[in-house]
Amino acid sequence: MKILWIASEAFPFAKAGGLGDVSNGLAKSLKKVGYDIRILIPKYDWINSANYNLELVSDNVPLNKENTFSVWQSFLPKSRVPIYFVESEVFEGADIYEGDEVSKFLFLSETALVIPQVIGWEPEIFHANDWHTATVPVFAKACHKYSSIMSDKRFILTIHNLAFQGPIPLFEYESRGIESSAIKRFVDEGDSARALRLGIHFSDRVTTVSPTYAREVKETKWGFGLQEDLKTKGDKFVGILNGIDFEEWDPVTDPSLVRNYSAKSLEGKKKCKSALQKELGLPVDKSVFVVGLVARITSQKGFDILIDALPEMFEEEIQLVVLGTGEPDIESKLLRASGEWEDKLAVFLKYDETRSRRIYAGSDAFLIPSRFEPCGLTQMYAMRYGSVPIAHRVGGLADTVFESERNQTGFVFENYSSEDLYSAVFRAFCTFREKRVTWTKLVTRIMTIDNSWESRIQSWKELLETLI
Ligand code: ADP
Ligand code: GLC
Repeated sequence: MKILWIASEAFPFAKAGGLGDVSNGLAKSLKKVGYDIRILIPKYDWINSANYNLELVSDNVPLNKENTFSVWQSFLPKSRVPIYFVESEVFEGADIYEGDEVSKFLFLSETALVIPQVIGWEPEIFHANDWHTATVPVFAKACHKYSSIMSDKRFILTIHNLAFQGPIPLFEYESRGIESSAIKRFVDEGDSARALRLGIHFSDRVTTVSPTYAREVKETKWGFGLQEDLKTKGDKFVGILNGIDFEEWDPVTDPSLVRNYSAKSLEGKKKCKSALQKELGLPVDKSVFVVGLVARITSQKGFDILIDALPEMFEEEIQLVVLGTGEPDIESKLLRASGEWEDKLAVFLKYDETRSRRIYAGSDAFLIPSRFEPCGLTQMYAMRYGSVPIAHRVGGLADTVFESERNQTGFVFENYSSEDLYSAVFRAFCTFREKRVTWTKLVTRIMTIDNSWESRIQSWKELLETLI
């Protein structure tokens, strides 16, 4: 079965968050079980063509009267998954989610229908991701130019985050040949239509990234206004839990770590902890409870309740390490706090893949206080590296982090409040301090939990089979 996966990100070429990892990891595992899956992303002008061996496939390909584009090709590292890059002026001069997002992502979505002819490979399934590429099936079904050649194709849309829906003025669709009559019933006030909403209605299957989030977005405010649209899909809307790439994320081989380690021997993890404390300018002390947090700094990720919980947290022998970039007002609150608690709080406002890995490895516990979380990958990376997750029980966190006695994988809090967050941190801290055997057992258990993509692939196979 031939599948074209279209997205705004794919690790390692372009990554802002979890979507980049999912593009890479899921494609590689589908390839391993026999699917001919290929990826399409923009050729952002900061992608280093030489480093990644990008080769030009075709240039000056016409998209419409005004625009042409070029196609480049490479492979996902350590795999035979081909990845194609669309090059055009529209992707120049901006980061992934900066600049004129409407123009660039409509451009990307439309090229997905033209590129198969350019590369001489005809996918049966087009797999779009989030609002950025949700218009792939809309171009295919509501644009005269494409509808006849696309009539036998099938379309999947995976929603990684309902908070971003891509409102686009109607004229932008019309000027690209999309029939307004076909999308009229989805137009919002102000004559715009949300790309994600159109994608939901024009796709044959819609998925999201965890079973709990799939329920939440139909039943609660986390559907951000698309609850009814998702309900109309019936069993054509499902939640499949994300996995992580066990080869890419492995403390036994990870070259970013000062010492490698495994669940059988945690000596190296101790070294990683003291190296992290040293590297971050925190007092080096193995008895201190080191908590890590790696996230985009946005209101989704729970920084408000975290900042309120800091005074209580820092009364204990706890150090907190935060790595992330994002909203300037949250960033400055974190910086201010790190000035106040120099020996307790280290804040790094950067995107730094190597440091993120050192935090997963060097921390005792890992905090994910998200307000909502479609899936979340960081709790799974933390487990793989033996850092015990402390998480708000929502979305994919509720599907991966459990505090029940028989099946514990972390510490969990129910209500979104700084009090509940703190009490979960405190429970973890007390176990770390007072019940060392229990703690070490927990660390070794979470390191052996199978959150690999391979363990999720059966659900994907079943979904793909329903499309034939
Ligand atoms: P989201 O997609 O909402 O950002 P996920 O938990 O799914 O959340 O994925 C986040 C991914 O981005 C993880 O791979 C995490 O390690 C990475 N990440 C986030 N912020 C940073 C950062 N500042 N530096 C390095 N990696 C980061
Ligand atoms: C989104 C979500 C995150 C999810 C990721 C990959 O960015 O916020 O929860 O893990 O996509 O699906």
